[in-house]
Amino acid sequence: MSDVTTIRVAGTSPYDVLVGHGLLPRLPALLPDSGRVLVVADANVSGLAADAAAALRASGVVADVHLLPSGEQAKSLSVAAALWDELGRRRFTRNDAVVAVGGGATTDVAGFAAATWLRGVRVVHIPTTLLAMVDAAVGGKTGVNTAAGKNLVGAFHPPAGVLVDLEVLASLPDDEWVNGMAEVVKAGFIADPDILVLVESDEQAAKQPTGAHARQLIERSIRMKAEVVSSDLRETGRREILNYGHTLGHAIERVEDYRIPHGHAVSIGMVFVAELSRLAGRLDDETAGRHTAVLTAVGLPTSYRGHPFDDLLEVMRVDKKARGAMLRFVVLDGLARPGLLEGPDEDLLRAAYDKVST
Ligand SMILES: NC(=O)c1ccc[n+]([C@@H]2O[C@H](COP(=O)([O-])OP(=O)(O)OC[C@H]3O[C@@H](n4cnc5c(N)ncnc54)[C@H](O)[C@@H]3O)[C@@H](O)[C@H]2O)c1
Repeated sequence: MSDVTTIRVAGTSPYDVLVGHGLLPRLPALLPDSGRVLVVADANVSGLAADAAAALRASGVVADVHLLPSGEQAKSLSVAAALWDELGRRRFTRNDAVVAVGGGATTDVAGFAAATWLRGVRVVHIPTTLLAMVDAAVGGKTGVNTAAGKNLVGAFHPPAGVLVDLEVLASLPDDEWVNGMAEVVKAGFIADPDILVLVESDEQAAKQPTGAHARQLIERSIRMKAEVVSSDLRETGRREILNYGHTLGHAIERVEDYRIPHGHAVSIGMVFVAELSRLAGRLDDETAGRHTAVLTAVGLPTSYRGHPFDDLLEVMRVDKKARGAMLRFVVLDGLARPGLLEGPDEDLLRAAYDKVST
């Protein structure tokens, strides 16, 4: 095991995110004194789950694997209920623990089962997609989807640790990598412009999980998220900047009934909100234009020819009402200088939308 990077997430329940190659031997140390561990895994990464269970058994822990349907189908109450049944059958106590192996869907549902079983048992995340490495596995948000919508049921439950084993990227399809790159580019614009420089220095590499800068892009994005959630676990303040590009992005996902991948919708949302920032007189032309260039370079879409703006506006308004706030956007006041724009003029919004829709 060589060259491991440790990124600390501070707060009331601090934990470490370890990044490196071949990290499974580190897993038992993240769960000291646990008698039993259930390794909950996406069916597409069952080999890694078996290796994780073997690493735990080697240290004297009773470990078994429970496979989930792959991807978003796993984020349901029935899958969570099956996990509760499994934990019950194994008589899991507060000393026992869950290990989640998979993408964001897996870390969300396994994290939710861990958050709710006995009102909270330890969970370690082993994210296997770029999105889960840089976003879903860090920050402690867990949840499932219900008939009322995505992610409306959940809990804040920080993990006991996160193992980002770069070996798993070897099997990740390129389009899943590109999907996650939207969050990496977001981190570049809101906090760490060196990310953008890395992408621009080798555009071809930035499109692939095995690209030369993959590790740096991942580590820098995790550091950004770790820094933000360290100071705001419950999304009452600074964490809001993570929503850059997400207000319109979520609305696009909703009107498209989630047929557009999250990263694609967020990419379009970032181009929109950069233009909104520019039109509001808050962002320079060059930084606004850089959004389209960088996102295009990594293979993400920057325009959307689907629903008219009125449909999206309605969804954004309903969403905001549900959260008891007026329509507001995370904008940029310059590179790496996020700010808020509250209750913007509808004409301004339409003008910014023209940028992505024409
Ligand atoms: N909790 C949070 O803070 C947070 C943040 C962002 C997103 N999310 C959630 O994350 C979910 C999306 O996560 P995702 O993009 O990782 O998708 P995902 O978990 O659905 O995984 C995408 C696909 O990749 C496959 N896969 C995963 N790892 C693989 C690997 N190493 N090799 C080959 N195939 C692999 C999966 O089987 C699946 O088909 C959404 O439900 C979203 O709401 C949560």
